[in-house]
Amino acid sequence: MTATAALRPAEVDQLGAVGWFERSDWLEAAIFLRASGAASGHPGYSSTDVGRGAHVPQRSAVRGDERVWLEADSAPVGLQGIVLALDSLRLELNREAGLGLHRTELQLARYRAGHAHYQRHTDSLRGRAGRRVTAIYYLNDHWLPQHGGCLRLHLPSGAVDLSPRLNRLVVFLSEQVEHEVLASRANRYALTAWWSGSAVC
Ligand code: OGA
Ligand code: MN
Repeated sequence: MTATAALRPAEVDQLGAVGWFERSDWLEAAIFLRASGAASGHPGYSSTDVGRGAHVPQRSAVRGDERVWLEADSAPVGLQGIVLALDSLRLELNREAGLGLHRTELQLARYRAGHAHYQRHTDSLRGRAGRRVTAIYYLNDHWLPQHGGCLRLHLPSGAVDLSPRLNRLVVFLSEQVEHEVLASRANRYALTAWWSGSAVC
């Protein structure tokens, strides 16, 4: 939708070869400047359970986020530009990488300052089969190294840490890439899209 948003051939290649790519400056200022305020001012963040059953540990030991599920057509005004850009990205991935992504789950997440984290996992948790691609857009202006809160990707070649700074996009194959959120010492916001599809990627 914008000149800066278009998927680059090298990103498609990297996604196919190693299962992920990132863009540290994805959208234009008119979109991202209003988005961080929209995320921090959004009402209704809540914690939900991870899995069910006797062997599931306390949620807070696994993950410290609170979240809001969004519908694309009723997302807050300040986040609509990102929601639209994410949907353009989905269509581009379908066109350029033949992923056949058709169903979208959208989540706004908050990790409150105070060492909240999310243990190592993949995004195809029980009940979430079918998720093929995860796209995370970060909404944290003035993020500093001492705030921690990096997304750590666990790749065969080693770990990659990505700070959750404003306007960074990270895309990875949901079933393949294990990842975790490191302890966060500042409030940390992200908008995530999970896309499901029937095609083999
Ligand atoms: C998730 C997740 C990562 C992040 O919500 O499943 O892994 O960087 N989030 O917020
Ligand atoms: Mn995850």
